[in-house]
Amino acid sequence: MCGIVAYVGHREACPLVIKGLKRLEYRGYDSAGVALMNGQGLKIYKKKGKVVALEQELDGKEIHATIGMGHTRWATHGEPNDVNAHPHYSFHRKLAIIHNGIIENYAAIKQALLKKGHTFTSETDTEVLGQFIEDIWENNGGSLEEAVRLALQEGVGAYAIVIMSEADPTQLIAARKGSPLVIGVGDNEFFLASDATPIVEYTKDVIYLNDYEIAVIKNGELKVVTLDNTTTTPYVHKVELELEAIEKGGFDHFMLKEIFEQPRSIADSMRGRVQADAGTLQLGGLRDYLDKLAKSKRIVIVGCGTSWHAGLVAEYIFEELARIPVEVEYASEFRYRNPIIKEGDIVIAISQSGETADTLAAIELAKSKGATIFGVCNVVGSSIARATDAGAYTHAGPEIGVASTKAFTAQVTVLTLMALAAAKRKGTISDSLFRQLLAEMESIPAKVEKVLQAADKIKEIAYIFTYARNFIYLGRGLNFPVALEGALKLKEISYIHAEGYPAAEMKHGPIALIDEDMPVVVIATKDSSYEKVVSNIQEVKARKGRVIAITTEGDTHLPGMVDFTIEIPKVHEVLMPLVSVVPLQLLAYDIAVMRGRNVDQPRNLAKSVTVE
Ligand code: AGP
Ligand code: GLU
Repeated sequence: MCGIVAYVGHREACPLVIKGLKRLEYRGYDSAGVALMNGQGLKIYKKKGKVVALEQELDGKEIHATIGMGHTRWATHGEPNDVNAHPHYSFHRKLAIIHNGIIENYAAIKQALLKKGHTFTSETDTEVLGQFIEDIWENNGGSLEEAVRLALQEGVGAYAIVIMSEADPTQLIAARKGSPLVIGVGDNEFFLASDATPIVEYTKDVIYLNDYEIAVIKNGELKVVTLDNTTTTPYVHKVELELEAIEKGGFDHFMLKEIFEQPRSIADSMRGRVQADAGTLQLGGLRDYLDKLAKSKRIVIVGCGTSWHAGLVAEYIFEELARIPVEVEYASEFRYRNPIIKEGDIVIAISQSGETADTLAAIELAKSKGATIFGVCNVVGSSIARATDAGAYTHAGPEIGVASTKAFTAQVTVLTLMALAAAKRKGTISDSLFRQLLAEMESIPAKVEKVLQAADKIKEIAYIFTYARNFIYLGRGLNFPVALEGALKLKEISYIHAEGYPAAEMKHGPIALIDEDMPVVVIATKDSSYEKVVSNIQEVKARKGRVIAITTEGDTHLPGMVDFTIEIPKVHEVLMPLVSVVPLQLLAYDIAVMRGRNVDQPRNLAKSVTVE
């Protein structure tokens, strides 16, 4: 996981790297460090905690350097402390390394180096790799580039690394396998980062390094070679990301900003795709594959966390509209159980970051079994987006808060469009329902806006439940995945234990938990299972549970029966999750803020999980 930033050029490297690390802090925040080089040599400064702690450490130190690199860590090997923080010096301090990922065979390499008399200061796999590279460099007599190449041929696992060496103050060497790395190409200057956000304010020209590639920046020139030493010609992309899109814009937290952005981000996911007036729908990235999707015998959806929840919503929608059987799998389970993939199967991988290691591995496995892979990703140019055969970007814009919000609604929007397109092609949807749903989709941003206007009321409810120790979330049909998502949001950022269940499943076990201290959030919107959900609410009330119900505007029945209601506008049942999830996001956010939690960077989590 972790964020990487590096720079070589004519600017002051230290403030540039620190600023970049702050942008990447969502990726990991156990510790932060920088390596800087000038006439006085290669120096490393690092500190446990967030980037601000590192900034305090650097305060008052005059470090002028035009080459430097930094890292914000999400620990995998060794606890988060000053020593395990990156960068790491090599044994003879000839080079420094930063690393995102895991070197799986580090223990064997370490053993061999220990036998040669090496000692290690940290517990990390990264330090082992750095020492290994230096050892090859010293003993082979070749260049540092060659040593990196040889070392990486031996290394098993995932990495994005950057290396600086005292021998050459113009040189940065970077490599990737499995973890992202973007190169920004400026005017006589180069930037390296885990994503484009630290780069966009300086240049829009970027190169996405591929797996098994090494970038060597030296004397103002960039060269890319593969691990087997073939020179490749990198393709320079233009990034569209604007700076304002990655800043907080007056909100207290990124998460709140992102919740409030949903009317726009949902509209962006449909932009240029839906023309409700004309009754047409196009998904450019699927054009050549739409027939295959419509004719598929089965769809397998893989994802993790919130993306998996979006997959569960898609299961209902695809089956309902396109009559294609769907299975939804945790990517981490799918990849390790020899799944059955038959001809005509389509795998849809869902991922906000496009870098989730489990999802990426699931794609590779499905590919090896001959499946056609569609991607639903938010980050343009991400590894998953590039590994799929076809797909549709969600276009939600950068999501910085660790808890996913606008990415979820954008995923559901895009998946709904995919299901509608397949249904239309297959002829399983009537023209009138197709047109009606397109029109309803266009009305969703305004409906979400309306829910956001209830933010103050939701805050009052959150206040009452700030110190609850547990929560249960219930929903049926399409609102069942929403219940799971509501519970996940709450536990991630408030650290309150929360579980989501299909409402009817409660009586098979969880009902034993209900008493006057148990808050139960029930999504009880006016849809085909409304009456059943009302009965489930009665079961909770009969046991004195405290019910917060998400109801449809104008419902006069439920307010008299439950403790609190949050109204949402009437929405077609198929599109309900896009609206019903919003109050749950706000409820989780408010409770977490009231408990004084770090909402954007909750403990133990990271935005992009690039380890398995
Ligand atoms: C969501 O709030 C979580 N932080 C997490 O479950 C996330 O959805 C999961 O790790 C998958 O990430 P991805 O969408 O980037 O693949
Ligand atoms: N495995 C390395 C460590 O534990 C890197 C982890 C990361 O990606 O931040 O230090």
